[in-house]
Amino acid sequence: MTNGNPLGTSASLPQPDAAATEASAALCRRIADEIGAAGGWMPFSRFMEQALYAPGLGYYSGGAHKFGASGDFVTAPELTPLFARTLAAQAEQVMALSRPEIIEAGAGSGALATELLLALEQRDALPVRYRILELSGELRQRQRQMIESRAPHLAGRVEWLDALPQRFSGLVLGNEVVDAMPVALVVWQQEGEKLSIVERGVSLSEAGGFIWADRPAAGALLAAAELLAAAEQLPATAPYLSEIGLAGRAWVGEWGRILEQGALLLLDYGFPRREYYLAERDCGTLMCHYRHHSHGDPFWLPGLNDVTAHVDFTAIAEAGFDAGLDVLGYTGQAQFLFNCGITGLLEGLQNDGDRVYLAEAKRVGKLVSPAEMGELFKVIALGRGIAGPLVGFSRGDRVHTL
Ligand SMILES: C[S@@+](CC[C@H](N)C(=O)[O-])C[C@H]1O[C@@H](n2cnc3c(N)ncnc32)[C@H](O)[C@@H]1O
Repeated sequence: MTNGNPLGTSASLPQPDAAATEASAALCRRIADEIGAAGGWMPFSRFMEQALYAPGLGYYSGGAHKFGASGDFVTAPELTPLFARTLAAQAEQVMALSRPEIIEAGAGSGALATELLLALEQRDALPVRYRILELSGELRQRQRQMIESRAPHLAGRVEWLDALPQRFSGLVLGNEVVDAMPVALVVWQQEGEKLSIVERGVSLSEAGGFIWADRPAAGALLAAAELLAAAEQLPATAPYLSEIGLAGRAWVGEWGRILEQGALLLLDYGFPRREYYLAERDCGTLMCHYRHHSHGDPFWLPGLNDVTAHVDFTAIAEAGFDAGLDVLGYTGQAQFLFNCGITGLLEGLQNDGDRVYLAEAKRVGKLVSPAEMGELFKVIALGRGIAGPLVGFSRGDRVHTL
């Protein structure tokens, strides 16, 4: 996602209207009740899950506008249809090597689904079914409306899933989905000779507001033990604060169980582990987005802000590998889009007139520029039973950096 305005403090952010403020207050009450019932502490991963997905009140499950110029951030499929048209080359190849089926996870406004279906139709490579796995009822509604208005003749192929399927062959696609999965916060601190690792969670102040509170990561709970084991493997040098995305890893592992033949293609911002946990990133990558402003305070109006963390692509590759998937490719978004032919598609727009061409060229520039989305965003493909190299990784594959 991209933002017009980097890092403001919450005091300088635009103020929401009364209804939005009240919805956020209702979510805060719900979270505070849960913290109270749990004895006064909640892991940050649970706080983030509630802030994003609490039924009716979370950022993705409530009424926030979210995507596009009038929302909080812009994602690649929202920026230009050329993104989906370019992905169509990779989708076509994976389906040809497995089955003509697509599942898109976290389809946002429906822009990628709509444009990808239209592009695959032009290539005579339509999937038999295009299924969308979406946690938010509000977004499902929006996705349906967009597909029905822009590609009504293809709407019959689209279905929504309530849960992961038992078995699947074909292409699984997720753009900026893993970054929206809850992360745990972990603090590494040096106490004399001893390195201690604590989990940062959320408690309540005397006034009832949210405050940070740490507890040893070696609790009796299985989740805490798993977190500690993951934290101990990371190359962090104390004092250090960062995130560990156990939910994203578990989700990829699930696909390892489900995928019979095909590929899981994930596009997101992040780094391989050796870059993620660099000394200079000692405050982690947790970030909130509100009306094109980025800030670092997830306690500011929960439910109205997107909350995200960068993706550790090494962890994603390991989770897939451990679940029996092959790592089919890993590269930067720019390289992937070049390999899939974005330049040729852009050139094809020259016949549409200078204005159209130049506007699209500017947007494509944003997708591929190393200073914008081209390098920070990565693409990884994990799969099973896929013969031959994937077109998106034909040049500049960086699997060896994971
Ligand atoms: C940042 S938005 C990206 C939306 C869209 N893919 C795009 O690029 O515009 C994150 C999306 O991931 C979805 N999401 C998060 N966790 C998910 C999960 N476990 N399964 C399916 N969707 C999920 C959210 O509901 C939301 O639609």
